[in-house]
Amino acid sequence: MSKKAFGIDIGGSGIKGAPVDLSTGELTAERVRIDTPQPSTPDAVADKVAELIASFDIEDGMPVGVTFPAVIKAGVAQTAANVDKSWIGTDVDALLTERTGHDVFVVNDADAAGIAEMEFGAGQGAPGVVMVITLGTGVGSAMFVDGKLVPNTELGHLLLHGDSAERYMASSIREKEDLDWETWGARLQEYFSHVEFLFSPTRIIVGGGVSKKHQKFLPLLDLKTEIVPAELRNEAGIVGAAALAQLETKSLRKAAKKVAKTTEKKKAKDASKS
Ligand code: BGC
Repeated sequence: MSKKAFGIDIGGSGIKGAPVDLSTGELTAERVRIDTPQPSTPDAVADKVAELIASFDIEDGMPVGVTFPAVIKAGVAQTAANVDKSWIGTDVDALLTERTGHDVFVVNDADAAGIAEMEFGAGQGAPGVVMVITLGTGVGSAMFVDGKLVPNTELGHLLLHGDSAERYMASSIREKEDLDWETWGARLQEYFSHVEFLFSPTRIIVGGGVSKKHQKFLPLLDLKTEIVPAELRNEAGIVGAAALAQLETKSLRKAAKKVAKTTEKKKAKDASKS
């Protein structure tokens, strides 16, 4: 089994991808970034994803994982908070598999970032309930219970002041409203206190581009829970998607082997009867 997989991170402004060495969690080639087309319709985005993959020389059968900023159930997008609404109901797995010619696994972007942190970053070996909260254009969440992901938790949409919390405390809101660190920090305090009260996590990991500047806001927070910056930063989505794709491929191969074995056994049994 190859320890290499390809990861792609689809975001509101950019689509980024690179091959990943899954024994170290490191990119094995420089990542490529393409602007997300506007409007970000399924068709237009799928073309860019295909273009990105084609710019690498990926060996046949290498697992490909793709992140998407929406609730993903069995490969199908159920929501579209910060992307074109036409994604709702789109089978993203099938669309990208068809368009790229590779077997693609799609996962919520925050879940992918969480997987990367648990495997290679600030969540390694952490027991109990771990929350990875990604602060970006929107706010994403990944929740792990003893290392196992509870997918699509969508805690950026917890209600705060009568609306989705992300509309009040996302990193993009800090930029848009030109909030100073103290003012934004006070908003984060409200949000994280709420998350802490609801889930009693053992650790909170804060990711997203702004986590580079964690010294400006994490020390302002007063929580009972340990709160730490993500370690993978910008590459978490790519690494997590690649890790997931490899796991999925492995379990699909295992399932296929099991089916083949059962079929063989049944054939042998039928043959011995006749
Ligand atoms: C979406 C999530 C996503 C998050 C971060 C939210 O608006 O609902 O699915 O994980 O943004 O991109």
